[in-house]
Amino acid sequence: RDAGPGEGPAALTLPATRAGGCPFDPAPGVERARREEPVTRATLWDGSSCWLVTRYEDVRAVLADPRFSADATRPGFPFLTAGARELFAKTPAFIRTDDPEHARQRRMLTADFMIKKMEAMRPEVQRIADELLDRMTEGRDAADLVAEFALPLPSLVICLLLGVPYEDHGFFQERSRILLNLGSAPEAVRTAQEDLQRYLSELAESKRQTPDGGIVSRLVERGELDDAEIASMGRLLLIAGHETTANMTALSTLTLLRNPAQLARLRQDPSLIKGAVEELLRYLTIVHNGLPRVATEDITVGGATIRAGEGVLCTINTANRDEDVFPDGAVLDVGRDARRHVAFGFGVHQCLGQPLARVELQIALETLLRRLPELRLAVPFEDVPFRHDMGIYGVHALPVAW
Ligand code: HEM
Repeated sequence: RDAGPGEGPAALTLPATRAGGCPFDPAPGVERARREEPVTRATLWDGSSCWLVTRYEDVRAVLADPRFSADATRPGFPFLTAGARELFAKTPAFIRTDDPEHARQRRMLTADFMIKKMEAMRPEVQRIADELLDRMTEGRDAADLVAEFALPLPSLVICLLLGVPYEDHGFFQERSRILLNLGSAPEAVRTAQEDLQRYLSELAESKRQTPDGGIVSRLVERGELDDAEIASMGRLLLIAGHETTANMTALSTLTLLRNPAQLARLRQDPSLIKGAVEELLRYLTIVHNGLPRVATEDITVGGATIRAGEGVLCTINTANRDEDVFPDGAVLDVGRDARRHVAFGFGVHQCLGQPLARVELQIALETLLRRLPELRLAVPFEDVPFRHDMGIYGVHALPVAW
């Protein structure tokens, strides 16, 4: 196949909707593409078109290929919403830049997020998880798990690592909700972005006066980045550091409550927790709208020719359901070896925070299941507010009882 931008049958409109399908499964249209036409054309909000790459091997091939650029300032880069275009217009964080600039910035953080360092955080993360559950359960038998546990846990941890005062969580959580909402107006995105940028620039300035050993403080001391670059990096870490793990925690809990046999297996044998976290990452793939790239040369992927300057979205959620790699991919099986999943992406931009996310998710689920053996949903399943409107999937609230 050889279709240029705007040509060919652009049957799918993105972001694809899950309406009418199971809320734990990828959008039916995107799943259909994986089965019927795994590299296909799709239409974006502004009428432009891009490629959709949906199978595991093809997704990995694109994400590992330096000829596909993650630089959001390149013409043809596919933005999922008007707000997303606004988000990366100025001072893009390194997630949307290419090597060597991407590598230069990422290298400044690798030591902070390496496995050994994150594993050493376990006692601290455990303490925070226990304190949150103490507070949530004291004198009560029901609560919103998102507000009281799933969100504050990673939020407190990333604040601690960065040196951001947690008292300001109302401020930065509200801004990150605006940035991640697919329906936010570009002006709202710009304002939220500027608010966060200013906040983190001021924080960088204050660390210059009073260093505290946190990541922002050490970036300031290094002296290799200006305050605007430090603020962009801080923004990325702050948002990625709490929204993702928070949603995985709440959505995983809901998924297990809906799969009582799998939940019972985990309760019986907590040694399954580590593997179960990988399986939940695979099965739920909360970064659900496709990782964006743009071709810098003509490249053949899965038999289709993608021309230089054409945008590509790699749907890691469909890749993680690909039966060629994960037999019965639509089935949750906490005993499965799911470690090859691409829920953290693949290639040079693969998630920097994954060792931290794993520690947080393992501790959050293990502690929740151990301490609340009677945990159950407190509202009818149909009333759970799924995050169809957000760039990171999950639930807005999860009313539970115990
Ligand atoms: C990148 C997912 C937690 C920081 C990514 C990417 C994915 C992802 C899919 C690749 C984006 C791309 O290639 O375009 C997740 C999931 C998480 C999680 C599912 C939790 C369950 C975290 C945490 C942090 C973090 C806790 C903490 C700081 C980052 C950063 C990048 C990234 C900095 C950009 C890496 C680069 O461009 O080199 N993440 N993430 N993530 N993630 Fe995560």
